[in-house]
Amino acid sequence: MANISTRFFGLELKSPVIAASSSMTGHAEQVLKLAEAGAGAIVLKSIFEEEIYHELQEELSLRDNLHSDPEYLDYFDYVIKDESIRKYLKLISDVKARTDVPIVASINCISSSDWVLFAHKIEEAGADALELNMYACPADVLKSAETNEQFYFETISRVLSVVKIPVSIKISHYFSNLAGMIQQLSQTGISGITIFNRFYSPDIDIESQSVGVADVLSSPHDYVMPLRWTGLLSGILSCDLAATTGIHTSETAIKFLLSGASAVQVASVLYKDGPSAISRLNQGIADYMDRKGYGTLSDFKGSLSHSSSSTQAWQRVQFMKYFGEKAF
Ligand SMILES: Cc1cc2nc3c(=O)[nH]c(=O)nc-3n(C[C@H](O)[C@H](O)[C@H](O)COP(=O)(O)O)c2cc1C
Repeated sequence: MANISTRFFGLELKSPVIAASSSMTGHAEQVLKLAEAGAGAIVLKSIFEEEIYHELQEELSLRDNLHSDPEYLDYFDYVIKDESIRKYLKLISDVKARTDVPIVASINCISSSDWVLFAHKIEEAGADALELNMYACPADVLKSAETNEQFYFETISRVLSVVKIPVSIKISHYFSNLAGMIQQLSQTGISGITIFNRFYSPDIDIESQSVGVADVLSSPHDYVMPLRWTGLLSGILSCDLAATTGIHTSETAIKFLLSGASAVQVASVLYKDGPSAISRLNQGIADYMDRKGYGTLSDFKGSLSHSSSSTQAWQRVQFMKYFGEKAF
């Protein structure tokens, strides 16, 4: 099999296919199955800033700035559990003792409050790296873009000051100057950026006329937006780039590698097909490399990115040609 090893999270990974954070990565036995299936790394289910804050606030005598926005809740019913921190740290140390596959802890965060002090506990528990799932829905019309962006820089700086393990971030595309923001984030000292997370999205039931939740799992067509931005950005960042959302097949994973991603993070396909999806993606990437005569990922990674290819397709946004030709 071709050598599909790569580098992401500041770590050497045996495969570019990473099991993304979700409830599929919240239990030791499931994590081990994903490791056996050949995941390059496993990002554990996120612990929430709220959970950490909740349990630390008494000890640290913090002011109460808990958030209760609905968009901050998990995809599933979410209840702050007693001892959730202890359980999370135990999950890290348990899986670390049982697999060599890199284990990445994950924190969902929407503020840079004193919960960041907790990050060193994650390091002590043995996590190989830490991913910050960062998103505060920018819906407050009174908040400037700069204020919204400040949270990202402050949080990263504070977390980097308390841990030595590599820190990466997973973000949304909701920035007013997306390319500039991602480039600046890449210069903060983080090891990697993953674009773009998929969030809880509201949807409407027209019969009951109520607001509920849209599809939780991605569809295989959802990859095109992160693909464009991977192609545009991969050559101009100061840290590694990975992609997530809509990656269900090895063909799609290969598109991301060609566009310059160092790795892909998958969740929905694990819910649909189980851990074997990882081995299927790995095999598909290796078969493609054999067919094309590539020995390593670096032989083709980024060869179609905006900075390495002459195509203007990454920047094109209007269907000019099609408007002129199509008749309905
Ligand atoms: C059910 C479910 C739960 C998730 N939970 C988390 C989470 O706790 N933390 C996180 O950073 N991302 C979480 N995600 C996002 C995934 O890690 C992933 O980035 C996103 O779903 C896009 O990948 P996909 O299209 O392969 O699902 C979750 C996704 C799903 C579907």
